[in-house]
Amino acid sequence: MPSPRPLNVGLIGGGKGAFIVHPHQKAIHFDGTRRVTAGALFPDPKIALEEAANWPYPIKGYASYAEMIAANATLPPDQKLDYVLIVTPNFVHFDPAMKALDAGIPVFCEKPLTVTLDEAAQIVAKVREKKIPFGVAHTYLGHWTSRFSRYLVRSGLLGDVRWVDAYYIQGWLATKVEATGNQQASWRVDPKKAGGSGCGGDIGTHALMQLRFVTGLEIEELSANLEIFVKGRPIDDHFTAYCRLSNGARGMVRASQIAIGHKNDLGIEVNGTKGTLRWSQEDPEKVVVNIMGQPDRVYWRGAISPNDGFLPAELPADLMAEPTIPAGHPEAFHDAFARLHRCFEADVRKYHAGQPFACDGSKYANVEDGWMGMAFLETALKSSAANAAWMKLPAKV
Ligand SMILES: NC(=O)c1ccc[n+]([C@@H]2O[C@H](COP(=O)([O-])OP(=O)(O)OC[C@H]3O[C@@H](n4cnc5c(N)ncnc54)[C@H](O)[C@@H]3O)[C@@H](O)[C@H]2O)c1
Repeated sequence: MPSPRPLNVGLIGGGKGAFIVHPHQKAIHFDGTRRVTAGALFPDPKIALEEAANWPYPIKGYASYAEMIAANATLPPDQKLDYVLIVTPNFVHFDPAMKALDAGIPVFCEKPLTVTLDEAAQIVAKVREKKIPFGVAHTYLGHWTSRFSRYLVRSGLLGDVRWVDAYYIQGWLATKVEATGNQQASWRVDPKKAGGSGCGGDIGTHALMQLRFVTGLEIEELSANLEIFVKGRPIDDHFTAYCRLSNGARGMVRASQIAIGHKNDLGIEVNGTKGTLRWSQEDPEKVVVNIMGQPDRVYWRGAISPNDGFLPAELPADLMAEPTIPAGHPEAFHDAFARLHRCFEADVRKYHAGQPFACDGSKYANVEDGWMGMAFLETALKSSAANAAWMKLPAKV
């Protein structure tokens, strides 16, 4: 059988000094089975076309995402977009996502899903109506070690989970960077563009997703403090949520952008009744496991064996089948993104072939995960406004 043609991906956002489009576009091209073919890269139509013309490889430029999505219906099959990637600031996620879904185009969208819970619920309803793949770009789920951590915790190898500390600590907004014209900072501190929570929305949602993905637990109630340390900033640059989890355990989802010296210090520690698991994205090749009364274990990505005195005889086939390079050749951020796009590709191909697809949150965050991120943020905002009063999260969407 000849190889299928690579999937065609359309970018929404990504022109003129944009950040996250670049790791994504590298990850899209990682396997040769996906490629960027089109883009609506900037809000100004003229600049959008110029930026597409200046893209490092040929793509079809569009003046707006509305035009790109509308044009798709008339393109020959080999040029049609197989999915769109939304890499715009948070307030420009909802409209392009809805337009793409209405046009039957699968969507891979940056986090947080939207700027309000109501918008997130509308996207969930649309995805369900259209029965279409939708992914949310929670990067760190794409690490092999995140998947391994998920297996270790969910299979009970650490016993019952008692406490989880999920964190994402940065220092780049410790001063008023937005006043210097920094593109990424400017919209992140504007509640109309970022949403009601700044730090919580930007990076707290990653910590939340790491907790939910690895443990399988939900946050039932929280008591949150959203704090502003840099004077004059309208939204939080420091975020702490003490949480009651669905199995009765407790945990913390915490994030900061004012902790000088911290770069992208995302990590998770899970304390169970038998042992502890520790993982950090700045050292993403290793998972540390501590079992009471035994020497500490350090598991490297791709270097695990069944029956090693801790791991059982059967290891999950899908985990073992994830492509990796030999341990010691470091994988990192781009590999994690590539793994997400690779798994999304599998669902997109099934969708276009009219076959059932999973999109169940086990390989990348799905639309319900995106909704949960917004439910978490809205509850945290209410709790913080009520002096960190305990508040229940809304029931599942
Ligand atoms: N998953 C991650 O690890 C990660 C990391 C960084 C950012 N993000 C998320 O990615 C998104 C973008 O963040 P960023 O830091 O790349 O922002 P950015 O400001 O660097 O880039 C945003 C891009 O969107 C474009 N844009 C804005 N409105 C548009 C419109 N109407 N039509 C077309 N293009 C438009 C801008 O011109 C710019 O090119 C945010 O939602 C952010 O939360 C995720």
